[in-house]
Amino acid sequence: MGVLHARALKQLSEAKIYACCDLCESKAAAFANQFQAEYFTNQPERIFNDPAVVGVYLTTTTDSHLSLFSLAVKSGKHIFLEKPLAVSIGHAKQMAVLSGQNDLVQLTAFKFRFYEMVVKARQLIPDPFMVSVQIMDDPWGADFWANDPIAGGGNVISQGIHGADLLHFLVGAEPEQVFAVGDNYHQPTGVIDNLSATFRFANGSAGSLVVGDSGTAPLVGKFMVQMHGKQGSVMLVDRLTRLHFKPAHTNTVQYYQGEEDGVLKENAVFIDIVNGAQQLYPTIWDGFRAQMMIDVAIRSAQSRRAFPVLCRKNIEKYN
Ligand SMILES: NC(=O)c1ccc[n+]([C@@H]2O[C@H](COP(=O)([O-])OP(=O)(O)OC[C@H]3O[C@@H](n4cnc5c(N)ncnc54)[C@H](O)[C@@H]3O)[C@@H](O)[C@H]2O)c1
Repeated sequence: MGVLHARALKQLSEAKIYACCDLCESKAAAFANQFQAEYFTNQPERIFNDPAVVGVYLTTTTDSHLSLFSLAVKSGKHIFLEKPLAVSIGHAKQMAVLSGQNDLVQLTAFKFRFYEMVVKARQLIPDPFMVSVQIMDDPWGADFWANDPIAGGGNVISQGIHGADLLHFLVGAEPEQVFAVGDNYHQPTGVIDNLSATFRFANGSAGSLVVGDSGTAPLVGKFMVQMHGKQGSVMLVDRLTRLHFKPAHTNTVQYYQGEEDGVLKENAVFIDIVNGAQQLYPTIWDGFRAQMMIDVAIRSAQSRRAFPVLCRKNIEKYN
């Protein structure tokens, strides 16, 4: 992800990649060489203590996010944080509480919000009553770090967080309750690998999330969104680049084609807000909400009962 964001920054041209860090020094060296950084290091503190650095991208494996985020907050840098916040909800909560204590930008990288066709879908159906999001990947390798219970937490945590944020973003209300079914169906690492969760939102809307690595669905592909509202129905497929819209009470379907442009746009927004522009962006609290939605859905699946999803004012009660 570091390389992907660096490529986006190069396209946007206003930012300079000044330094880079990886625990694996040869990776840091290769990155520095590719993006003409001034220096590379395997000591994160060197970058956090460098007054020439304005903002940092935290794109390391998920189990390192809490410690790096804490250092970055203390150092007074703007922060672009890859999702998920953490592997455990406890760490995610610590990060949410740490965030927002200064005027610096702290963005959670929820790229789906920025896709051209996701934005279009929200314009077409601004207040849907039914939304479904599916993120179904091909089976993940047992040796993939994100599939490890400690390092990444598995597919449902790692990818489900994207889906949970997208559900909340499209519904436009806080999640209140969830019932989910899911399990460790096939992964030897023992993680919850597939889950189907239905949320009730504060405005009464229903949002369903299907996430896992049972195998990409034919015709649909890895990502799929459906929205239904009084304006009609929307379906998004082809990695969220193709939108089909059937206006209510008609038999016609309108088609729109967009780009897979979420990474480029989230970087453009980060640069803009660091430069002082006023724009909405996904915060660390948004990252926490998505993590909480998945965590409670997993609890629901494990206990076979519905669970409340506590909102921000009740965060202290959540542990
Ligand atoms: N937004 C998305 O669509 C998306 C997609 C894939 C991954 N991600 C997220 O991006 C992050 C990175 O994933 P990736 O696929 O790029 O992983 P990766 O394994 O390709 O790269 C992670 C790098 O972090 C380094 N690292 C680990 N701990 C470190 C530390 N404490 N200090 C310095 N370097 C450290 C590792 O050596 C490795 O080179 C994860 O949080 C993941 O969930 C997001």
